Amino acid sequence: MTEQSPALDNLLTESRTFPPSEDFAAQANAKADLYAEADADREAFWAKQAERLTWDTKWTTVLDWTNAPFAKWFVGGKLNVAYNCVDRHVESGHGDQVAIHWVGEPGDTRDITYAELKTEVSKAANALTSLGVGASDVVAIQLQMVPEAIFAMLACARIGALHNVVFGGFSPTALRARVDDAAAKVVITSDGQFRRGKAAPMKANVDEALEGAETVEKVIVVKRTGDQLEGDVPWTDGRDLWWHELVDGQSEEHTPEAFDSEHPLFILYTSGTTGKPKGILHTSGGYLTQTAYTHHNVFDHKPGEDVYWCTADIGWITGHSYIVYGPLANRVTQVVYEGTPNTPHEGRHWEIIQKYKVSLYYTAPTLIRTFMKWGAEIPEKYDLSSLRVLGSVGEPINPEAWIWYRETIGAGRTPIVDTWWQTETGAIMISPLPGVTSTKPGSAQKALPGISAKVVDDQGNEVGPGGGGYLVLDKPWPSMLRGVWGDEERFKDTYWSRFKDQGFYFAGDGAKYDNDGDVWLLGRVDDVMNVSGHRISTTEVESALVSHPTVAEAAVVGATDPTTGQGIVAFVILRGNAVDGGEEAIQALRNHVAKEIGPIAKPRQIMVVPELPKTRSGKIMRRLLRDVAENRQVGDVTTLADSSVMDLISSGLKSGKSEE
Ligand code: WT7
Repeated sequence: MTEQSPALDNLLTESRTFPPSEDFAAQANAKADLYAEADADREAFWAKQAERLTWDTKWTTVLDWTNAPFAKWFVGGKLNVAYNCVDRHVESGHGDQVAIHWVGEPGDTRDITYAELKTEVSKAANALTSLGVGASDVVAIQLQMVPEAIFAMLACARIGALHNVVFGGFSPTALRARVDDAAAKVVITSDGQFRRGKAAPMKANVDEALEGAETVEKVIVVKRTGDQLEGDVPWTDGRDLWWHELVDGQSEEHTPEAFDSEHPLFILYTSGTTGKPKGILHTSGGYLTQTAYTHHNVFDHKPGEDVYWCTADIGWITGHSYIVYGPLANRVTQVVYEGTPNTPHEGRHWEIIQKYKVSLYYTAPTLIRTFMKWGAEIPEKYDLSSLRVLGSVGEPINPEAWIWYRETIGAGRTPIVDTWWQTETGAIMISPLPGVTSTKPGSAQKALPGISAKVVDDQGNEVGPGGGGYLVLDKPWPSMLRGVWGDEERFKDTYWSRFKDQGFYFAGDGAKYDNDGDVWLLGRVDDVMNVSGHRISTTEVESALVSHPTVAEAAVVGATDPTTGQGIVAFVILRGNAVDGGEEAIQALRNHVAKEIGPIAKPRQIMVVPELPKTRSGKIMRRLLRDVAENRQVGDVTTLADSSVMDLISSGLKSGKSEE
């Protein structure tokens, strides 16, 4: 943000609040006094959270921040992360508890108990060891949501190897970049994956990626699609091994070794403002402490009672922290679903919730808006009464989507936790506590107990109530990233240079406080527009658009404008039942935004489109929309989930849509 204006304008106001019911509050894991306890002695508080884990050797120092920004948490402590997620639950008598209700896309299912999980992870650990994988080696994993993905991650953790999970939908080029940068020794993948009812090749893409790769010695292949995949699975003798042939014959016994609290656990690549992805490094003790603590308190998880479902993919940080590590450390029973939400029908999620009596459900706003688009009559056909907490993550959730989620999915009863965090933070940072907070649709509200976040201006001074600026984290936290793989300078530059004097971590997001001091996320700072000297968040305009009954989804960009600096250009998808976007309808939408936010936020132009360009994680690629809005050749589309979307948009626009 280079603009001159000191603060983001506080334009959207939300007055609805939803306190937890008395019953919920009374039984909640987290009570209001947790904040005071953390404030009184932050390090003692985190030490207490770390004690929820099983340590081989106790730490001597909670936090060493003398070499900032390189933190060390629970210094001198030793633990095995996989032991904490698996073995200790078997030892405490819960070997028969289901850890994973796995649901395959074609309808096949598999229930895996903690005892079985221990066997599978032990065999996989022995298999990796037999291939010469040792502590600090890197194993790349490109797998869809099959149980072996979780076994493989935990097997790495068990032997101190780092996993580097690459999302299943990433291209061979993207995989290769991540394999090379991390110098992966082994790659684990599958023959093929089921996607929207069809078997699609995986191994063939991996082979293409690995052509000439110098560090990879072995490729382990999980058989998933088998005969249903057309053609042979390409095979390199001497390098490639079937998972079942390698793993099934291994011993079921494996003694976990304790590793240093700061031993690296994994690398996960994430995109930044420049082209080259950053390998975000996370370590063991602090990461597991905070993922387990947040999962316990934010979702109010009760082991052995709740059934939890996080719909993320293990290819993203949400899958790492809230499918694998936090939940399993807390002895979760969880659903893991392989497929897409509309295969074979648009009620698939609700059917699964009904069948397994899911009580805690964690998903993303993009999916909630998709469900809205499909219509409330679909979830209404299912019994969703088991649900008691609903979570949201990934982007700001529009108040309209929030209300829909609470009313339609949560029967107006469930607390909604809007959780703000990042790949870099490793675990949830800002979120309501479901038994404490009076929630507000659209706001992530307050830093969790033990976490400190501030909204500051250009100079790093905290803004007052109603003010906006940059979201920073002003104190180190246990699950913070420990670096960018192989690039110390980039780590310091990207995260610690903007507010170097103050020592703040700059998260890259704009945010504001409302008059109660609650935090509202306004999107990445490069998604903030400047119209006639006023800063307006793309998110705020999008929320206003989506609150109109005819709009299903909206994406807003700031396009260069000779008069106002930037003009607001909106791309909208109309709801199924809305009439097509004629002049009048467009004008009504512009007026609606003016009414919701103010005349300054009235879009200069609104284009009705059939789809929006999204990355595979569901983020709208505004850069591409900006190209369209500014009549430029559309840039690089390789990270789009569906690269034909831009053609669809461009051809739709040529048919002549409205502009004033
Ligand atoms: C960025 C991090 C954290 C797991 C998924 C995304 C945005 C995330 C929220 C939220 C508003 C949110 C931020 C953040 N974001 N959660 N609840 N409200 N914005 O991880 O890919 O590392 O992206 O996602 O802009 O910086 P990620």
